[in-house]
Amino acid sequence: MLIKSKDKATPKSFEITPETSYWSRREWLKSAGILGAGLAAFGGAPLPAMAKDQNWQAILNDKLASSKKWPHSAQEELTPYKDVISYNNFYEFGTGKSDPVENSKDFKVDPWRVQITGEVGKPGHYTLEDIFRPHALEDRVYRFRCVEAWSMVVPWVGFPLGDLLKRFEPGSKAKYVRFETLVDPDRFPAQRFARSTIPWPYVEGLRMDEAMHPLTLMVVGVYGKTLLPQNGAPLRLMVPWKYGFKSIKSIVKIEFLEQEPDTTWQRLASREYGFYANVNPQVDHPRWSQKRERRLPNSIWDPNWVPTQKFNGYEEQVAPLYAGMNLRTHF
Ligand code: MTE
Repeated sequence: MLIKSKDKATPKSFEITPETSYWSRREWLKSAGILGAGLAAFGGAPLPAMAKDQNWQAILNDKLASSKKWPHSAQEELTPYKDVISYNNFYEFGTGKSDPVENSKDFKVDPWRVQITGEVGKPGHYTLEDIFRPHALEDRVYRFRCVEAWSMVVPWVGFPLGDLLKRFEPGSKAKYVRFETLVDPDRFPAQRFARSTIPWPYVEGLRMDEAMHPLTLMVVGVYGKTLLPQNGAPLRLMVPWKYGFKSIKSIVKIEFLEQEPDTTWQRLASREYGFYANVNPQVDHPRWSQKRERRLPNSIWDPNWVPTQKFNGYEEQVAPLYAGMNLRTHF
């Protein structure tokens, strides 16, 4: 994230057909549950008593095997699995792109608890089984755009974050959701250094309506398999219309708040990284252009530039969330 972009060449002028042209807004909203009863379906579902067993992997395997293909997936060439799992940003394992794959080989998920806290009816510490058991999994191919101007197209497996949040019964004061990554120097080597690059825990946040949007995914797998540590096992967010740093990995805490939370990258460089972080080719990063992106896999000889799309191509679905807002000020 603190890198400097050197290449100032102009983007190639070919066009990507946005997949929004494949499905009408109304049809999409209907299937996402906004126009029907679907979105409310989890509202009243009781939480199970805290699951005691640590059998989550077997349960997850069954769910992965029966996951359903999402009908609105990006119709673009997938980034190969080997690139998705070896070119990563995960500062808890180091700042280099290959540090996460190299330094996460011994990472153990167990034990794992997710604390639910703040303005919510059902606070507590939940097991992984508690978190994902009631949810059917979907395979969703999303474009994924990092603020550093590279991108991928990835088949994530997960379920809508909003369906999970509703089960905890957010209160009327819950206007924002704050997420934290695990702090454990035994499992995350970069957290052992006395002077680390970023303050731990890694923190991210969403406005409540962004968190409840049907595109916002709680991810447990990729390419049909369990999420690997370098990609944020066992639970990570995927918010496809925002820069990648919003998609926090290895989540252990979800807090419902009345006020907008401070997030890691805002604390580090608020002029460069905003709370909203919506992908926007019209608003450059202070140090580099956001008009185009290197689509992985690529090389220095073939950078594979593609034009960046507003809201990463999800404008039709998410622009209403920001109606009337100045996206330059709220970047
Ligand atoms: N989450 C945590 N906890 N720590 C991180 O360093 N990096 C973010 C995001 N989530 C990060 C994180 C950034 S900058 C990006 S681009 C994506 O994870 C990268 O996800 P990927 O490695 O699965 O492609």
